[in-house]
Amino acid sequence: MTLLLTGADGQVGREVQRQAREKGHPILALNRSGLDITDANAVRQVVGETGPAMIVNAAAFTAVDKAEDEPGIAFRVNRDGAANLAKAAAEAGIPLVHLSTDYVFDGTNPRPYLETDPVAPIGVYGHSKWEGEEAIRQRLHHHLIIRVSWVFGVHGNNFVKTMLRLARERDVLRVVADQRGGPTYAGHIAAFILDLYRQIVNQETTSWGTYHFCGSPVTSWHAFAEAIVRTGHRKGILERSVAVHPITTADYPTRARRPANSALDCRKIEAYFGIHPKAWQTGLDDMLERLAKEDA
Ligand SMILES: NC(=O)c1ccc[n+]([C@@H]2O[C@H](COP(=O)([O-])OP(=O)(O)OC[C@H]3O[C@@H](n4cnc5c(N)ncnc54)[C@H](OP(=O)(O)O)[C@@H]3O)[C@@H](O)[C@H]2O)c1
Repeated sequence: MTLLLTGADGQVGREVQRQAREKGHPILALNRSGLDITDANAVRQVVGETGPAMIVNAAAFTAVDKAEDEPGIAFRVNRDGAANLAKAAAEAGIPLVHLSTDYVFDGTNPRPYLETDPVAPIGVYGHSKWEGEEAIRQRLHHHLIIRVSWVFGVHGNNFVKTMLRLARERDVLRVVADQRGGPTYAGHIAAFILDLYRQIVNQETTSWGTYHFCGSPVTSWHAFAEAIVRTGHRKGILERSVAVHPITTADYPTRARRPANSALDCRKIEAYFGIHPKAWQTGLDDMLERLAKEDA
């Protein structure tokens, strides 16, 4: 009943490894040098030889701005890599849990996005992830595509770590206040993936398809940054608090455009799997406590 994890060294991958080992789930965790998902033969060989009960794909090209200049690699990993995994899973007769993104939407919706809302990616990254979703749907019935958003965690680079660094270097932070979404803790994503794994291997589900999962409540990057500074100061990671001033997207141009609203409606995953959205503040508390212990 081994779980095969790809992208094992990423933010989510590291958390899935850690929690699987804590819970005693057998796991074969492969990073990019262990399994490059763009190599179709290698994917087929690993799945054939190791006989996993399920695949979790946490591998992706996630550099949103870089993807604009390097679309070839973004599509190779996010579309073709996903297709390779789906094909190998179909041949082996096993399910695939695949992570996707809120950036498949254009952000013009006035309310949180439902799984049934039309996609309209406004950048290469979102476009490549959408094509990855479609590649899976075309090849494998037994799939769960889970769209997550604004991922942060202990491992890798993310918005929280950037804010902590800037708060040590500057007296004032200026952060975009007109983009809204649900920051999602990698530890919470890992926990629900392992919950899904348990339900799948116990054959408690036949509800294949696409789901949304993100942290609550919906917030802005600016309000999230304020919480990061406040919590970092409270937990002793930051020696002082600094002011966080709101700015607009127009004040902070980036190579790739971002959706103004990428909040995800998570009621479907609650209804089908009993998996509830988690408060991002609890994820932030956990992350900063773990970072504080590492520093100590
Ligand atoms: N980060 C976010 O804010 C965010 C938001 C919404 C959705 N998501 C989705 O959530 C999932 C997990 O994201 P994350 O934040 O954990 O990503 P991450 O930290 O960037 O990790 C992705 C991992 O995939 C690996 N990888 C890249 N190309 C690969 C290849 N060809 N074969 C195998 N592994 C490869 C990377 O290895 P290298 O480091 O060696 O390249 C990295 O370890 C992704 O599907 C992402 O699209 C993320």
